[in-house]
Order: sequence, then structure tokens, then C-alpha cells
Amino acid sequence: MYILGIDFGSRYIKAALTIVDDDNKVTIVETFSQTHKASRKGTITDLVKAKEAFKSILEKVRIKFDEEIDFYLITISGEGVTTFTGTTKIPLWKQENEERRVKITKAHVNEVIKTAKSSYITDNKVELHSIPQEYTIDDQQPTQNPIDMSGVKLRGSVYVIQAEKTQKENLANILSDCGIDNYRIIYSPLATSEAVLDEDDKETGMIMIAIGDQTTELVIYHGGILRMAKVIPFGSYNITKDLKILLKTDNNTANFIKKNNATAFEEDADSEKEIEFENSGVQNKFPTEAYVAKIVASRLKEVYDFVIHEIYKGSYQRIIHSPVMLTGPGGKLKGADKLFSQMNNSKTTNGKICGVNLKGKELNEEMFTVVGLVKYAVNHDLIISEHDENEESKGLLFKMKRFFADIF
Ligand SMILES: Nc1ncnc2c1ncn2[C@@H]1O[C@H](COP(=O)(O)OP(=O)(O)OP(=O)(O)O)[C@@H](O)[C@H]1O
Ligand SMILES: [Mg+2]
Repeated sequence: MYILGIDFGSRYIKAALTIVDDDNKVTIVETFSQTHKASRKGTITDLVKAKEAFKSILEKVRIKFDEEIDFYLITISGEGVTTFTGTTKIPLWKQENEERRVKITKAHVNEVIKTAKSSYITDNKVELHSIPQEYTIDDQQPTQNPIDMSGVKLRGSVYVIQAEKTQKENLANILSDCGIDNYRIIYSPLATSEAVLDEDDKETGMIMIAIGDQTTELVIYHGGILRMAKVIPFGSYNITKDLKILLKTDNNTANFIKKNNATAFEEDADSEKEIEFENSGVQNKFPTEAYVAKIVASRLKEVYDFVIHEIYKGSYQRIIHSPVMLTGPGGKLKGADKLFSQMNNSKTTNGKICGVNLKGKELNEEMFTVVGLVKYAVNHDLIISEHDENEESKGLLFKMKRFFADIF
């Protein structure tokens, strides 16, 4: 089947046309990218421009491929997406004071998850992902699958990712304007981490940091389970802006210097060597590598401080020194890995795409999120339309109402 992934980033909209075969293997057919001005810090702020950008990238795909696309996936990001961990304990035996052990079924598991998240659900938020963490039966060791085990009480916790209703409605609006109803919305950090982490990384524990243009994504996997996924509203563009101001130059030159001459690891910068560039506001006086490194490093340190703070806030300090996978186009900045490694005393490596058939071609970091998006949806059985799911639950609600109406 043909699946089109679309990553609505802060500066770029990217698409990946993929083929998913019967064994769930993802093969990339072609990728597409273009800039837009519809978003800020990962959130769509101009729906008219967003629709134009979306239609334009679809048009690019359709010019090259006239095959019918079976399913669409789209990322959601920004500060409007929030998370919480809900935990609760339910009795397995319903009669009071009864201490008999009960064999746990799927229904018990569903109930504990539903109860765990019930107190956090608010009217202006909608659920994007619900990721069960661990279950504990009485005083036994925690497990990820309590089914068929026996006990008196079942404790369960769940990590829930929710978006603002309006944010999701905006995406639905864009898609329905293009006549698309077979789609699924996925939180961007989950897509990016799926591109670079394999099952072993997830099992042993890994922190992923992906630097984009206006956002940085943080994902933690441990014991094979996603523990944390966050979007921090700072990215590589903040470095460009600093260089532009402090080097008194224009945006393009600042961006060029960032990509080609800068290092974020000050020890590697030469304090004598000057970086010559056009469009300098200060004629014939060029900054040294060390000066540029200082500018870049201080901004990146600030971003990394946010990342480290989030890890502590999420009570993950015990795994703070897990290996780090640095990715995203902004992560290509020279010395960005060394800087994090020094700041946090953790092994930091640059992420590579895994588990996807690239047909012998290289895949640029720019495309990791959009390709990971397809991989995530396929690996987590999410190729089921939001629309169908809603219809299904509406159907169930309707049946339940009729059932109660029949009784009373
Ligand atoms: N080699 C490089 N070194 C440093 N930065 C780079 C490099 N290549 C690209 N970048 C930066 O990466 C950023 C683009 O990231 P990305 O493609 O993820 O943007 P986006 O998806 O539109 O934004 P976001 O992910 O924040 O929503 C730009 O700021 C660009 O300058
Ligand atoms: Mg991005």
C-alpha cells in the first residue's frame, strides 16, 4: 500500500511517499520538501497559508506519481501538545472484603488504563497517544503484560499525550479541504525517534534529542517503553538569529556560517583563524572561529539546559546518563554532540536512520521525521483513520445508549 507521510515543521513542510508491504517493511519511493510561513515553533498559526502549503506539496507528489495514496500520516508538534502520567489501582474482585485471587483479563487491563487517565481528561484537550507503562499485581514485580497472572489488586500507569482541540481541528480542516479522510495524526517526537532508535536502543534505554529549526524534540525510551516525549520551543534558528545580530550580517550568511564554519565545542575553535564572509556590516573586520563558537555554544547550551531540566522534571534523573542519540538537521552542527556529552557526561552519538528500505540512496536528516512517521504508524498499528475510529466509538456509544434505553 502507498502511504504518504507529511511533516508540518516550523519552516518546512516535507512529504515522504512510501510503500508498505505485507510484512510491514517501509520502502521510500521519494521525498519532497518546501518552505512555508504557516507555523511558529511547531504550531500552525495561519490556517490559510497552511492549506496553501499542504496543497502545494500534495501537488508536487501528484505531478510525479499518479498512483492512488491509500493512507496519509501527518505530524503534530508545538507547545499545545502536553503530556501526563496517570496511575491507579483497581480491585480485581468486586465484592467488598473479598480477598480471592483473580486471573487478569484484557478487560481488567483496559479498565485500569481507563481509570488511570480519567481524572486528567479535560474538555479543551484531545488524546493523541496513550502509552501503557508498567502494571503491578499486589506486591509482585512490575510487568508489562499482566494478562493471565493472578492477584487481588492491579496497579497500572499510562503516559498520555494530548493536543489542544483547536490544534487538531486545524489539521483536520486542512485535510478535509483536500478531500482526505483516511489519515492519522502523530506527535512529531515519536516519529523522529522511531527513525533513529532500534528495538535494542529502546530496551537498554536511550535519550533522543532532535534539533529542528524552531523546536527541539526530547524522547526517552527505557525498558522498551516510551517514557517521555517533549517539544522544547527553541531550535537551530535561534543560533542563526544570534549570529545574524552579533556578526551584523543577514540571515542567509548567518545560516551559511552556522552550517559551514561554526563549531559548538569551543575547545575545537581556533582563536586566530578569521571567518571571512560577504555582507558583513563591519567592513574588513572578520570574527575569529573562537568568537563564533562562543556565540553558538552559549545558545546551544541554553537549549541543552532546557532538555536536561525536562528530564529532571519528568523524574528521570536516574537515567540521565543513558546514551544520547542526537539528530535533526540542527544536530549536524559541528561539536553539538561533544557539547552535550561534556555538559551531561553522557555518551552522545549522531543518529542514523534504521529499519527502512532506502533503495540504496542516502537519506538526509531533514527527512528523518517524515520517514520515521510512517515507520511509527506501521509498527504501532496506527494505519486506521481518525475518522473511522471516531465513527467506531460513536457507533459504540449509540449502541450503548440504545441498550440502556431498552432497559429503562
Ligand atoms: N549542517 C547543519 N548544521 C547546523 N544546522 C543545520 C544544518 N543543516 C540544517 N540545519 C538547520 O536545521 C534547521 C531545519 O530543521 P528542520 O528541517 O527540522 O526544520 P522544521 O522541521 O521546519 O522545524 P521544526 O522541526 O523545528 O518544526 C534549520 O535551522 C537549518 O539551518
Ligand atoms: Mg523538523
